[in-house]
Amino acid sequence: MVSFLLALLGLAAALVYYFLCNGGSDSKGKYPPAPRLALPFIGHLHLLGAKPHVTFLRWSQKHGKIFSAQLGQYKVLVINGHKEIQLVLNDSRITGRPQFPLLETLTNGPNGIQNNRTESWNDLRRFTLHNLKGLGIGRGLQSLNIQSEIAHLQGNLSKARGPVDIKTAVLEAMGSSVWEIVAGQRLEDEFVLRTLRNIGRCVNKIGVATYFPHWSTPLLVPVWKELALLSGHLAEFQHKQIEDHVKSLDPEHPRDFIDLFIMDSTLRKQDLVSVMNEFLIGGCLPTAWTLAWAILYLSVNPDVQDGLQEEIDSVLGSTQPTMEARPKMPLAIAVLMETLRKSSFFPLGVFHSTTEDMTLFDFQIPKDTIICANLYSAHHDVEVWTDPDNFRPSRFIAPDGNGGKKLLRNEASIPFSTGKRSCVGELMAKELLFLYLTSLFQKFTFRLSNEAEITRDIESRGGFLSLPPDFNVVVTER
Ligand code: HEM
Repeated sequence: MVSFLLALLGLAAALVYYFLCNGGSDSKGKYPPAPRLALPFIGHLHLLGAKPHVTFLRWSQKHGKIFSAQLGQYKVLVINGHKEIQLVLNDSRITGRPQFPLLETLTNGPNGIQNNRTESWNDLRRFTLHNLKGLGIGRGLQSLNIQSEIAHLQGNLSKARGPVDIKTAVLEAMGSSVWEIVAGQRLEDEFVLRTLRNIGRCVNKIGVATYFPHWSTPLLVPVWKELALLSGHLAEFQHKQIEDHVKSLDPEHPRDFIDLFIMDSTLRKQDLVSVMNEFLIGGCLPTAWTLAWAILYLSVNPDVQDGLQEEIDSVLGSTQPTMEARPKMPLAIAVLMETLRKSSFFPLGVFHSTTEDMTLFDFQIPKDTIICANLYSAHHDVEVWTDPDNFRPSRFIAPDGNGGKKLLRNEASIPFSTGKRSCVGELMAKELLFLYLTSLFQKFTFRLSNEAEITRDIESRGGFLSLPPDFNVVVTER
């Protein structure tokens, strides 16, 4: 009897919730419409499917480009379309960050740049951008040891007999390149490299559990505990690096990002480990996997790969690629722009929040509203791209009027997001991607080792990150 009454009460609560939270689309002027069928506790999570960004794009066709969705415990405003995203993310009142236990687990609390909700966020962001330049970013990375890291990877690929797990090879090389900037040395510690690989695997498994209350997550997804353990390992490693840097610091000759940070007395000490994690996890993983996506797309599009190699041969010959060559290599840049567009590594960006009550597109939006910019919707809008699902770098190329080619920019291409919170590592990622891509395709031709298996599912894996599928390549020296 008691359980019957409880079930009845539960049903009544669910019905009340359903009618309160399923407002349909008649709330213009108040709050953006929400799709129907939200359920208690989980909201719309059961409707998201394996690719929430694709579902959101579909919902935008019915509910309009701005709609709200209940994602577990979070009420989120979803923005679709590049013009709408540009407008929203460039509004200085939308630069807050909501509190997400997953992100804070990865970067050691609400510190660093990305999860920082205090005033110190902007100072740290400026410090980082300024000092990345000082360390060579934007100046071709010449002062860094990137070329020797690339040579190391090339050496390993030359020695390979049989198919290569290129995702892992590229992640290790990129990890070292990023670490060179942060800590002035190669990342050789096998344990840290394995930790980094495992973090990537775990993050994607957590999926929609991100939106459940923090206490419930370890119960719902056991991988959460593993993730917390892995980021703990990484934090220990970072602390040890900081200690070593403090001991050997020569203020006259700062060697790397850690030295520069330690020397600046205005910065909060607790931010350093978080920024280091942001470089390693938030920086290295998307850059490495974007390169892996490029290799995958080029392996299944041999005609585009041939075109890229022709450009490399005619501009570089056998000389080492440098950033000076970039203006003469529109196809190489177009390949990267198309890879970033099609794969959209952060399909839903990183969530923002409003810092005050505001009116947005005629809707009344309260302070602390969570904003999700569906970057995927900007990159897959048929009205902008015509055939968004095809890998076609030529969409970024036009004749230059002198018999050559020039690069076409498209304002709907925003893989690094836009506005005051846009990616701090954009320049660094673009330089690394250019140097790695041109160096690899100068020396090697890549083909899939098992095309039949992979072409069935070349679309992104997982939910909130667009990870390339596991694939092996046959690498042939040119
Ligand atoms: C292909 C590589 C990369 C992609 C696609 C990418 C993309 C993004 C995106 C979409 C955001 C969210 C911006 C927003 O909230 O509106 C972001 C933020 C951020 N990225 Fe990247 N990123 C990449 C590489 C890097 C690298 C190499 C670093 C290391 C320096 C980095 C550091 C950051 C940081 C610190 C933030 C937070 C910025 C803030 O909150 O002010 N990223 N990135």
